[in-house]
Amino acid sequence: MNQILKCWAVVPAAGVGKRMQADRPKQYLPLAGKTVIEHTLSRLLGSGAFVKVAVAISVEDPYWPELDISKHPDVITAPGGKERADSVLSALKSLQGLAGEDDWVLVHDAARPCLTAADIHLQIDSMKDDAVGGILALSSHDTLKHVDGDTITATIDRKHVWRALTPQMFKYGMLRDALQQTEGNPAVTDEASALEILGFKPRIVEGRPDNIKITRPDDLALAQFYMEQQT
Ligand code: CTP
Ligand code: MG
Repeated sequence: MNQILKCWAVVPAAGVGKRMQADRPKQYLPLAGKTVIEHTLSRLLGSGAFVKVAVAISVEDPYWPELDISKHPDVITAPGGKERADSVLSALKSLQGLAGEDDWVLVHDAARPCLTAADIHLQIDSMKDDAVGGILALSSHDTLKHVDGDTITATIDRKHVWRALTPQMFKYGMLRDALQQTEGNPAVTDEASALEILGFKPRIVEGRPDNIKITRPDDLALAQFYMEQQT
């Protein structure tokens, strides 16, 4: 029997964007006529894949209430936390009573505005029958070196190393419990790592290379280029 597939999106957007060195958090910088976060949320909302999108926003954030999209009926605002994982957990808690324990949650960085509907649907289609779930990831085209100081100590087999992107797709209850049980653990830099620490084996599916994270100043021009290529 076909179970009804319910997916929710969670967007951590409470970072300060230190590496961007801008006058405001990077999610509010202009990109192709909108702010970065407006692109990200429009793409999630426009995919038609989600019941609601829960966004974690810093409590001191003066920019968010100014955006029309903060009042979108399918957008829920939750308070951000100290680390990314705290923000994600807070957004998950804002879905308590709405999301079922076995519903899927796709966690996606606000700072990744080039996400395509194609990648969202690819991920959901390939992971919806999993017991655990997993993440979009990118293979490396370059040869990879293990380095000590500036000395190469080994060449790493490329087929075993992948770059973790978002969305990261997990069951609502399992992800909430994993983030609660690993709270404060500095090794938890993404959702998958929280599940890995508890012994689960998340999967990867290869995503598109244009799903970049805006991190440093040059990334805005690159994101604009990718957006032009996508239309
Ligand atoms: N994030 C969050 N809460 C935090 C820290 C980060 O919600 N306490 C979010 C960011 O807003 C971003 C995503 O997590 O959308 C990925 O984090 P990152 O790229 O590291 O963003 P920042 O932490 O803002 O940037 P930086 O590390 O350069 O300060
Ligand atoms: Mg950060």
